[in-house]
Amino acid sequence: MKGIILAGGTGSRLYPMTASVTKQLLPIHDKPMIYYPLATLMLAGIRDIMLISTPRDIDRYVDMFGDGHRWGLNITYALQPRPEGIAQAFLIGKQFLNGEPSALILGDNLYFGSGLSERLQRAAELTHGAHIFACRVDDPQRYGVVELDAEQRPLSIVEKPRRPKSNWAVTGLYFYDGRVSDIAAELTPSARGELEITDINARYLSAGTLAVERLGRGFAWLDTGTPETLMAATQFVCALESRQGIKIACLEEIALTQGFIDANSFAKLAATAPDSAYGRYLKTLLSELQIDVAPAQLRVVGARR
Ligand code: G1P
Repeated sequence: MKGIILAGGTGSRLYPMTASVTKQLLPIHDKPMIYYPLATLMLAGIRDIMLISTPRDIDRYVDMFGDGHRWGLNITYALQPRPEGIAQAFLIGKQFLNGEPSALILGDNLYFGSGLSERLQRAAELTHGAHIFACRVDDPQRYGVVELDAEQRPLSIVEKPRRPKSNWAVTGLYFYDGRVSDIAAELTPSARGELEITDINARYLSAGTLAVERLGRGFAWLDTGTPETLMAATQFVCALESRQGIKIACLEEIALTQGFIDANSFAKLAATAPDSAYGRYLKTLLSELQIDVAPAQLRVVGARR
């Protein structure tokens, strides 16, 4: 399965924070926002990733991630010149996807919860149809909203409904089979001038192949589009990380635990990390993993979890 991160848009709701810095590079507590969706794709087991951003901002991401090999990833880049909709990612990424199943995540969505990786990995096994996640929110009018029957089967899906039929918002993480680029090519722009991801989901729904998985209590799904939600996400991550001494969305840790990089590579990343809280965390992990960095032959003799 291939992955796409869509990190476009003007971030106008965060102006002037976004006057010269793209929204998805603003910090959520101790790391750039984009780390969180990238970590989510990695937890799903996805290594082949296309990052889509604007002509103004793309170079910032290239500087930050390069080709991704440090984390055992293969990252490529593409442009979305204008904010013409989430579904446009599948037109921009058509060649990259090459008819394979894919996961798309929005660059400002943050997921956290026990058992999340297992759920993501199950979704990433998809070969037919679509799989999306729904989360209960207080303000469903702001989102794509899905109505479910008693057996959790989707009945309807509507983008930003004035009178929502449920409180279940469709989150910004979508798994599709290899037909998604062809479906995207058939869409026409909505009233707000965008190719809507909800229209793709509606196609799968009418074909009877849309699976909706609810993220219930115990999961946090945060989006970070306004100053208030940005602050809420920061406070959430800060509270968990400070209390537990863990880090959320630590790319090096995930790369190691997912087997994308070996202990040698992790040890090098930790040893050369700057002296920040993040860098010190890597060094702590290194010692907890009991990786002997001195000789060339490194050995992992104990795992943290
Ligand atoms: C977009 C989607 C919407 C989804 C939301 C999740 O909204 O159109 O269906 O619920 O992302 O973050 P937008 O960011 O375009 O307002």
